[in-house]
Amino acid sequence: DTAAPPRLTVIGTGYLGATHAVCMASLGFEVLGVDVDADKIAKLASGQVPFFEPGLPELLAKTLESGRLRFTTSYAEAAEFGDVHFICVGTPQMPGSDACDISYVDAAVGALAPHLTRRALVVGKSTVPVGTAARLTHTVRELAPAGEEVELAWNPEFLREGYAVDDTLRPDRLVFGVASEWARERLTAAFRPVIDAGTPVVVTDLATAELVKVAANSFLATKISYINAMAEVCEATGADVSDLAAALAHDDRIGGRFLQPGLGFGGGCLPKDIRAFAHRAEEIGVGQAVSFLREVDAINRRRRSRTVDLVRELLGGRLDGKRIACLGAAFKPNSDDIRDAPALDVARTMHGLGAYVRVYDPAALDNARRAYPELRYGSSALDVARDADVVVLLTEWAEFRQIDPEAMAKVTAHRRIVDGRHALDPEVWRAAGWEYRALGRSWPD
Ligand code: UGA
Repeated sequence: DTAAPPRLTVIGTGYLGATHAVCMASLGFEVLGVDVDADKIAKLASGQVPFFEPGLPELLAKTLESGRLRFTTSYAEAAEFGDVHFICVGTPQMPGSDACDISYVDAAVGALAPHLTRRALVVGKSTVPVGTAARLTHTVRELAPAGEEVELAWNPEFLREGYAVDDTLRPDRLVFGVASEWARERLTAAFRPVIDAGTPVVVTDLATAELVKVAANSFLATKISYINAMAEVCEATGADVSDLAAALAHDDRIGGRFLQPGLGFGGGCLPKDIRAFAHRAEEIGVGQAVSFLREVDAINRRRRSRTVDLVRELLGGRLDGKRIACLGAAFKPNSDDIRDAPALDVARTMHGLGAYVRVYDPAALDNARRAYPELRYGSSALDVARDADVVVLLTEWAEFRQIDPEAMAKVTAHRRIVDGRHALDPEVWRAAGWEYRALGRSWPD
């Protein structure tokens, strides 16, 4: 029956899955969240979100109370319950390779399919190498007792950490990669409230849907590396990349978003997605078409080493024995995620070069401490800045923009600041007697 709202399962309750499950339940659907991690399932079922995401804990509480959202570790229960099954497991970078590891997707599909005894739609949301959906279509049909009755579709996800709820409820677009009219109808039913709210839908084949996701992230990464490449040119010429970016942004064909120069991109998506895309393109014989992504990656990595160089230069050529206050650990503000975080990369490099590094972050301290116990941590920006030879801003949290240069100067040993994110007003800091440095910005001699 395609008229009734479908019952949904969400397989994999990490960042993407937990958000998707909660948001779909908030829209009125009956949702069952599934994960092999019993601990995670118990936490979610008791109303705890195991990561930092503004607005999500409140919405989880509400949807649990409504009774529309439940959690389980049983694939048999999921298959019994659901009409549409969303696969939301992670596809991290493979250790020692640029490829992404799709074993969790394979495992989820492999565990679900043998229980599918009636007509169902399996929808991949994870970011995968193009061609995965076509392969999985065969796997699902071979393993499912319902055989040809089970279909596969791809519906990539574009949510940003920190805005996950809003991006899920009010996305810029929905992409439905489908192989049949029935699959298109089922997906339409599964997103009815989102579509009715005015969200445009782009219907494609499976391969195109897989590609939209990596193409979008590659474009965003390229835009960031483009402005950071311009920063390198600015550094060599005494020009100012912030003014350059502001001037470019007035052209709406270019636009100002994702044109913020600085320490570059990190996180669990952009870096691994461009590498996996370049790798996959090589595998299928079109490596040349996206070889520029290797350059995008190289420009981005250079930001980190150049930031360390800038700190060293400001300290007169040496880092060993210097006291360095690092503001920020998360890969971006409004997140506790430290995956491939540029901030921690810089902090660790300076620590490795003999500096006495202290790190503060409003949300990511626990994660940072667990991953890098060798670093030292403090409880506030002023706390880590005590007696510092230099302050280095590495993640542009709003609270760092509000720091009073006079108050900070009272605790530091010297008035030296490196703004790795172009988050501060150089005029204000210089007026307060600070030596201010940022990549791609000139400074008075
Ligand atoms: C990114 C995409 O923006 C989402 O659309 C996508 O769904 C997601 O990846 C994913 O594939 O799951 P996210 O990783 O949460 O989202 O973070 P972004 O807001 O895109 O920021 C990525 C990095 O770029 C951060 O380290 C940020 O500091 C950096 N950045 C961003 C810049 O250096 N300059 C900018 O102008 C913008």
